[in-house]
Amino acid sequence: MSKKDLFLRIESVTPTMAEELADHFGSLEELSLATPGELSQLLGIKLSRAELILAAVREHLSIMPISAVELLQKDLNIPTITTMSQNLDEIFDGGIPVGSIVEFSGSFGTGKTQISLQLCLTVQFPEDMGGINKGAYVIDAEGTFSAKRLLEMATAPDLPIEGGKQLLNNVYRTRALNAEHLIDLVQNAGKMVRDNDIGLLVVDSVASHFRAEFLGKETLPQRQQLLMKLANLLQRLAEIHQVAVVVTNQILANPDAIISSSTEPALGFAWGHRPTHRVFLRKARGSMRVARIFDSPYLPDAEAMFYITSYGIRDKDVDRGDLSHD
Ligand code: GTP
Ligand code: MG
Repeated sequence: MSKKDLFLRIESVTPTMAEELADHFGSLEELSLATPGELSQLLGIKLSRAELILAAVREHLSIMPISAVELLQKDLNIPTITTMSQNLDEIFDGGIPVGSIVEFSGSFGTGKTQISLQLCLTVQFPEDMGGINKGAYVIDAEGTFSAKRLLEMATAPDLPIEGGKQLLNNVYRTRALNAEHLIDLVQNAGKMVRDNDIGLLVVDSVASHFRAEFLGKETLPQRQQLLMKLANLLQRLAEIHQVAVVVTNQILANPDAIISSSTEPALGFAWGHRPTHRVFLRKARGSMRVARIFDSPYLPDAEAMFYITSYGIRDKDVDRGDLSHD
């Protein structure tokens, strides 16, 4: 059955509408998460008609309450992606979960980008080696994505699979030029995810454009609105496509602190309660970093120590010098 036919099964969807829907949504599940406003705009129909269509879609999919036992079964089967640090994986109860949003925040140099790059490789590992056998898509808002550094990590001698340049084939990167563009890219990421079998979406960082473009109190409502939209789009992507969404966030500068000790992620309340898991990173000695998970709906607050090494994220410090001895 063609995708168009799928949409035609919904009551009151005309063939022209079905065509339009097939262009924009990969499945009925995806359509079911659209808002009436979006749908009415897309199809050029009244809001009330859009609401009817959405109700019919949800009925068709019989989105019904499910029992806690079934839910538990679902939760226990959530695939995760290893960070290459067991310590860090443990505070996530196994690794970065698909289907939700994980935020890494911290000041400059704490490892947000390095963790993101590491995950772009480990997502490609087979299931029994801590991956999900899929590719990665990075939306780079700061221009700090480094293919050279990625290659360095991809050639680390301790990878559980054969490393090398071919791992870079499954990592895609786009530059987000401003906040509006970032939202646009996320809005269109579904197709990218489908076409390239993506299992990890990284947004590095969500904060920079919003903080740079929306200055002053009077811009706050618009900023909050766009952040909500971004959060909704990311959540939807995570759930519908079962991808892990990893976002990085900056922290608020605290001009009153004698040393930089602010631990509050930027973007405020509108954004703050949206990620499923929030992790705060801080520097310890040398290349050692500490990650603290907080605000998670089912994981206890906990801390983990890891290192940023030349191989990538690891539990022990290694440098390239060790290579020849292995
Ligand atoms: P901002 O984007 O500036 O907010 O910081 P971030 O949290 O993204 O920092 P990032 O992940 O880029 O981490 C930077 C740190 O990683 C540096 O301070 C280095 O300590 C370490 N690092 C980066 N590249 C390498 C590398 O090639 N080898 C090693 N050993 N460490 C590296
Ligand atoms: Mg960075």
